[in-house]
Amino acid sequence: MQLHSTVAGFADQLDRARATGRTVGLVPTMGALHAGHLSLVARAAAECDVVAVTIFVNPLQFGDPSDIEHYPRTPDADLARCEEAGVAAVLAPSVAEMYPAWPDPLSTAVSVRGVGERWEGAARPGHFDGVSTVVTKLFAIAGRCRAYFGEKDFQQLAVVRRLATDLSLPVTVVGCPTAREADGLALSSRNVRLSAAERASAVVLSRALAAGRSAVAGGERDPDAVGALMAAVVGSEPSVVLDYAAAVDARTLEVPVRLDGSVPVRLLIAARVGAVRLIDNCDAVPAGRPVGGTDRAPVRVGATAGNH
Ligand code: PAJ
Repeated sequence: MQLHSTVAGFADQLDRARATGRTVGLVPTMGALHAGHLSLVARAAAECDVVAVTIFVNPLQFGDPSDIEHYPRTPDADLARCEEAGVAAVLAPSVAEMYPAWPDPLSTAVSVRGVGERWEGAARPGHFDGVSTVVTKLFAIAGRCRAYFGEKDFQQLAVVRRLATDLSLPVTVVGCPTAREADGLALSSRNVRLSAAERASAVVLSRALAAGRSAVAGGERDPDAVGALMAAVVGSEPSVVLDYAAAVDARTLEVPVRLDGSVPVRLLIAARVGAVRLIDNCDAVPAGRPVGGTDRAPVRVGATAGNH
């Protein structure tokens, strides 16, 4: 495994791999790697000859300075996990390497309208512009590849798909299922910041999604009713403060008029557990619609869910 602190060294390794006919799988991360990240690495390894991981806590996508300050950083463990997973190239650049004029902003920014505007886009102004800009840079640095992103950040995945298509980038974006704890909590680098009591409460997000999913499968056609049901489940846990819970069209992330099987449905949820903001989502298949929806394998959430 080669560890690069410079963009040029990383790009050169991947260029040389392609020159010998090998395909590249890219996994962009902010480090603090867990089994969710490693599931993307495993998928990339199964589908590509050379796996490249980027580890960069991107200051452009953090609005709240205390969030980036508290963002977990485990560089040694990250590198050991990459090595063990058979990763060939790691890029772990400094902020100055990625943004030479930092803290002055870049003159160029990438902003995805539409799919990036609601939900996380509204809750975290500027967040998706920061994600879109760094991902565009990482795609430019990595070159032709398949790039692996988690459905855990479903709106981010939609934003990244959109920018790759709109800008004709030579990258095939691959969405991967959410890895979960045995009780249903989606794995997240932020989970380490939860106290034991908060960790116990946090499972209410996946319970709410499971309730929404059952309601949709059971014939509930009104997206607002599904959102209200999920909000009520979260409301049963007083220490968890709901931000949003919604049933949306999985392609546009807009709330459809009815969940009548004509649109693929995604359930989105965001809530604050203590000082930690968590997001989760799952698919939902309206009654009478053939199983399959938008997912290769339907995601199970809730108490019975296992790791994916
Ligand atoms: P980060 O939060 O480190 O996540 C890196 C990738 O891992 C993302 O594609 C994310 O969706 C995926 N991931 C996180 N938790 C997961 C889980 N439980 N199951 C499956 N995949 C999971 O997302 C980012 O970093 C950044 O915004 C980034 C895209 C790197 C741009 O800075």
